[in-house]
Amino acid sequence: MRIDIITILPDLVRSPFENSILKRAITKGIVEVNLVNLRDYATSKHKSVDDTSYGGSAGMVMMIEPIANCINDLKSKRHYDEVIYTTPDGETFEQKMANRLSTLGNIIILCGHYKGIDERIREHFITKEISIGDYVLSGGELAAAVICDSVIRLIPGVLNDETSALFDSFQDGLLSPPVYTRPEDFNGWKVPEILLSGHKKNISDWLHEKSLERTQQRRPDLLE
Ligand code: 6GU
Repeated sequence: MRIDIITILPDLVRSPFENSILKRAITKGIVEVNLVNLRDYATSKHKSVDDTSYGGSAGMVMMIEPIANCINDLKSKRHYDEVIYTTPDGETFEQKMANRLSTLGNIIILCGHYKGIDERIREHFITKEISIGDYVLSGGELAAAVICDSVIRLIPGVLNDETSALFDSFQDGLLSPPVYTRPEDFNGWKVPEILLSGHKKNISDWLHEKSLERTQQRRPDLLE
């Protein structure tokens, strides 16, 4: 998989890809992440990428030319399965969408900024608009990093058996059960006896029961 992230703040997006699981996925060659600085595609004398809006509502709008030049340049080199725009008014990102995106070949993620991007970009270039939740971020960069993290960890070969994504919260529609490690007894706070029993069937029944219980308490909407 190849992900091209178009942004005016490449430094803001870089570090998630330089650490831990995403770094390993890139090193292993399973995914290629390319940060594209939108300003490199600016055409005006002052290299601007935003301008005041027609109609005069407050805030700057990202201009069509740099983005069109950038996306067309990327598209001239390879085919893209999706051109994603991160925006608070997009479709809410969920595990199901992460699963689907993880099966794609090449994608572009355009990070929004200011008061938005010229609507014509959304009409003519964007194939999917994603929000990561009902709150407002200063820009789409952190949202793009969130999307990439959740997608990349699902690609076969990125996680090993022990950390398999199959057992993640949400993957079976349930939240994960509690987990424990040594010591068995911390100042009288004990690990549940059953986990020490070595009885595989009883343990997996207990874990499933705890998953259900936790989902019922915290996210009953997932059980509906
Ligand atoms: Cl994708 N962008 C911004 N700016 N804010 C958000 C968001 C995206 N998702 C939730 N809030």
